[in-house]
Amino acid sequence: MERKPQNILVTGGAGFIGSAFIRFLLTQVALFKGSCINLDLLTYAGNLSNLKQIEKDPRYLFQHGNICDQKLVERLCFEYQVDTIIHFAAESHVDRSILSPQSFIETNVMGTFHLLEVVRRNPSIHFHHVSTDEVYGCLGDTGFFTEETAYSPNSPYSASKAASDHLVRAYGKTYAISTCISNCSNNYGPYHFPEKLIPLMILNCLQNKPLPIYGEGKNVRDWLYVEDHVKALWMLLERGKRGETYNIGGESEWRNVDLVHEIIQMVAQLQFKPRAQLEKLVHFVTDRPGHDFRYAIDCSKIKEEIGWKPDHQFVEGLQKTVQWYLTHLDWVTEIQSGSYRNWLELNYANRG
Ligand SMILES: NC(=O)c1ccc[n+]([C@@H]2O[C@H](COP(=O)([O-])OP(=O)(O)OC[C@H]3O[C@@H](n4cnc5c(N)ncnc54)[C@H](O)[C@@H]3O)[C@@H](O)[C@H]2O)c1
Repeated sequence: MERKPQNILVTGGAGFIGSAFIRFLLTQVALFKGSCINLDLLTYAGNLSNLKQIEKDPRYLFQHGNICDQKLVERLCFEYQVDTIIHFAAESHVDRSILSPQSFIETNVMGTFHLLEVVRRNPSIHFHHVSTDEVYGCLGDTGFFTEETAYSPNSPYSASKAASDHLVRAYGKTYAISTCISNCSNNYGPYHFPEKLIPLMILNCLQNKPLPIYGEGKNVRDWLYVEDHVKALWMLLERGKRGETYNIGGESEWRNVDLVHEIIQMVAQLQFKPRAQLEKLVHFVTDRPGHDFRYAIDCSKIKEEIGWKPDHQFVEGLQKTVQWYLTHLDWVTEIQSGSYRNWLELNYANRG
């Protein structure tokens, strides 16, 4: 049976993927006539300028607040007759989780728990939990994560996401609430916070800064263009089976070192810079502790059951992303000011 989400509470809608979801919902889903309420704490990763395109849309409302505040969440659900919660809010950066895990437990585990408590009291609400393939741990040279792969998280980040997935599953079983979980591979695209690999490399190329690569750069990630992810999420809100988990991936595996060279080539071409000059910026730094070697996703379930497939080939999506950063340097400047820069300087100044 197809769901028709009317009034949607989006948690973490000022972040990278949450904001892409809201832009998609309000600009691409022709039949969406309901309300979209964005509940976001605006941590260092949340940025309302990601939503400038839709901020005046009468269907959109921003609420500053914490997902751990059950009273606030319950009031929003009541006031706006929320029938669907899509939960993006999280601490999402693995390196930060290694340096300081507490906020990952508070937001990712406890925050999800508080939202589920609200849904338990309001069981007409459908709850979609946005999660990561990192919960499955690490692959060798071959094989893929399926929805049946045993959880084996290796970082405080992935452990906190794994814990939240288990809570969602357990609440669905125990309290018979309507839940769905999706586990997605690495996303990339516009508005990606520049602490993550792809935007960091693009911006450092532009600014002639070092291009630090962990270990020997042989770690492999599967990459998905963010707009393909949010399209999958919308299709799951409509058609995802209650109580099920779906893996989402780009079927596009890249070794980190090859990805960095691809970015160098694109920036060199677009900026008319000598490629060799950018290549010199590459340097290898001490590997991240517990660094997973390879992630790869088998996403045949969502393809076969829901009819989703990614629209972007990786190189095409990466071109669009590089071009986006080149033409949105005002966004970059805003993001690179203040607390983010302080944090980077504190934690990365002496790395490698
Ligand atoms: N980025 C990826 O490649 C990727 C891949 C798979 C899954 N995911 C998952 O998708 C979700 C979104 O990821 P992202 O990359 O957009 O993250 P992000 O870090 O860019 O954004 C997180 C957002 O959550 C908000 N937030 C944090 N704590 C909050 C709290 N206590 N209350 C309310 N809001 C809070 C932040 O202000 C920010 O806007 C996360 O759950 C993440 O685990 C991300």
